[in-house]
Order: sequence, then C-alpha cells, then structure tokens
Amino acid sequence: MRECGSAFAPSNIALCKYWGKRDAALNLPVNSSLSISLGDLGTRTEIRPSDADAVYLNGEPVALDDAFAVRTLAFLDLFRSEFGNASFVVRTENNIPTAAGLASSASGFAALVLALADLGGWGLGGRMLSMLARLGSGSASRSLFEGFVQWYMGTCPDGSDSFAEPVSKPWPEFRIGILELSSARKPVGSRDGMNRTVETSELYKNWPAQATADLETIRGALFARDFQTLGKTAERNALSMHATMMAAWPPLIYLQPETIEQIHKVQRVRADGLEVYLTIDAGPNIKLLFLEDNEQAVASAFPGLQTINPFG
Ligand code: DP6
Repeated sequence: MRECGSAFAPSNIALCKYWGKRDAALNLPVNSSLSISLGDLGTRTEIRPSDADAVYLNGEPVALDDAFAVRTLAFLDLFRSEFGNASFVVRTENNIPTAAGLASSASGFAALVLALADLGGWGLGGRMLSMLARLGSGSASRSLFEGFVQWYMGTCPDGSDSFAEPVSKPWPEFRIGILELSSARKPVGSRDGMNRTVETSELYKNWPAQATADLETIRGALFARDFQTLGKTAERNALSMHATMMAAWPPLIYLQPETIEQIHKVQRVRADGLEVYLTIDAGPNIKLLFLEDNEQAVASAFPGLQTINPFG
C-alpha cells in the first residue's frame, strides 16, 4: 500500500438521463444512459490512511455529520477491510459547484474510487472501477472515462453487468455551455428525487421505453455525426425527465423562473436559425449543446456562458 492515493475524474453530463433505480442499494438503473465527460472540469481527490477519519472539501474541513462527509465515509466503509480497517483523510477539490446540478457526486465518487485504486495498487480495469464507482453514485459509473460514455443498465440482480464504457470516437467540434443560474443547494437531491418519481409519478411509466429509444437515437446520431438529431433527442429526453418529476407527489420542480426564461430563449434563438439545444439535470442550471462553428454566436446570445470543449 502506498502512503497516499490521488486521482482526477471528470464531471459528466447525461444526454440520455439516468432516472430511476431497480435496486437502490446497488444503484442499478431502470434504463441505460449516455453522457459526455467534461474534460478537465471535475474532482481531484487525495486519500491517506490515518488514525481518524477526516474529510476536506475545497480545502475546508467538513463536519463528519454533514451529508457530504456521511456519504463519503459510508462509501469508504465498503473498502476499509482492504486497507487493514484503516480510517482515512480524504481531500476533495471540485472545480465545479458542489450540488448545483453539475454532477459533482459523479466526478466525486469516480475520483474517490480511482484514488483508492491508486492507494491500494489495485490494477483493476475500467469496467470493474466503473461498477465500484456506481456503488457511490449511479452517474459516477460514467465519470471514469473521457468523451461519450454509455452506462449499460444490465440485467443481473448482482449488478455485475451494470457498468459504463466509452462509446464513439471523439467529436472535437462538440461544445457544452454551462449557464449557471443558481448555485444554491437543491432542496431534494437526485437520489430522493428519483425514488419519489418512481414511486408516485404516473408519467414515469412511460420513461423506461422512452429512455431506451432515445439512447438508441443518440448513439446513432453520434456515429453519424448528426448534431441536429442528437441535440433534439437530448433536449426532449431532459424535458421528459422533468415532466416525470413534476407529475410526482409532492411535485418535484427543479426548474426556477430563470430556468424557464432561458428554455424559452433557447427556443427563440433556435427559431432564428442558431443550432443550439439544451439539457437540464436535477437542478435549475442549463447546459447548452452546440458545435464549434456556433461558439461565438451562442456566447453572445447567452452572456455569462461558460463554454467547455470536452475534447480540448
Ligand atoms: C439527473 O447519479 O446523482 O443527473 O445514483 O442516487 O447517486 P444516485 O443519483 P445520481 O443521479 C443523476 C441524475 C441525473 C441524470 C444523469 O446524470 O444521468
């Protein structure tokens, strides 16, 4: 065992969303999903065995009863026996806002698994690491890899076929714009939100079939480099997910007034001929999808946009 393990994992944004679990303990999803990783935006984690557990987030100590520390330490419990039942000091640095709907739990658990693998010299392959990250957070299974990534839902009850893998070759012109509309912590996290949706939303009944069809369309569009089909399908997939949430009880409305305003704006600029699409996770922020040719036009239509080149 080394003295310290460290690793970086990128954040990822789903173009076909994971929403709903068939097994909550193992984070086994109801549907397969497909994402794009965000290059150098994500989480860097360092882990050291120690006499007592300690958790730092962006340089600040985190109380051990804080939700972030509780989730991190519960995940580490799965691995302590590999390290002589050690306690750990974990230092996490995010260069994306925590819990603002920009998937920091995805890069967080992926970086933690990679840091543990580094500490223990595990030498495991990507599939196995992806399955381990999935135990921390479903979307973390996809953050092990760069570029476009598919998480196969699998069918085995033990989750041994539910892992992510890269799909398709790089698309160097692909751009993502982050419109950060609010960095407030969301009132209901993805985990509780998806469980509530599965349990109470009538509209959720159609979700597995739609997500399966959307994923096939997006995969096809990726291979064909058909940006319009990809964008349309990703936008409709995200808004359909939000429709299932709104039909839950109590209703889950992650969209804020600013979000709705910007959704309308995307439709307006698109009607004027600008090829830009959007996706939204379980939060108020919007991610825009566009190609390099339109980078300037999209940036001037959406002031304050943070543009990411995932293959840069
Ligand atoms: C809307 O992966 O955060 O971002 O597995 O319970 O940790 P848990 O959920 P999480 O859910 C992500 C939901 C989403 C869609 C997606 O990333 O696919």
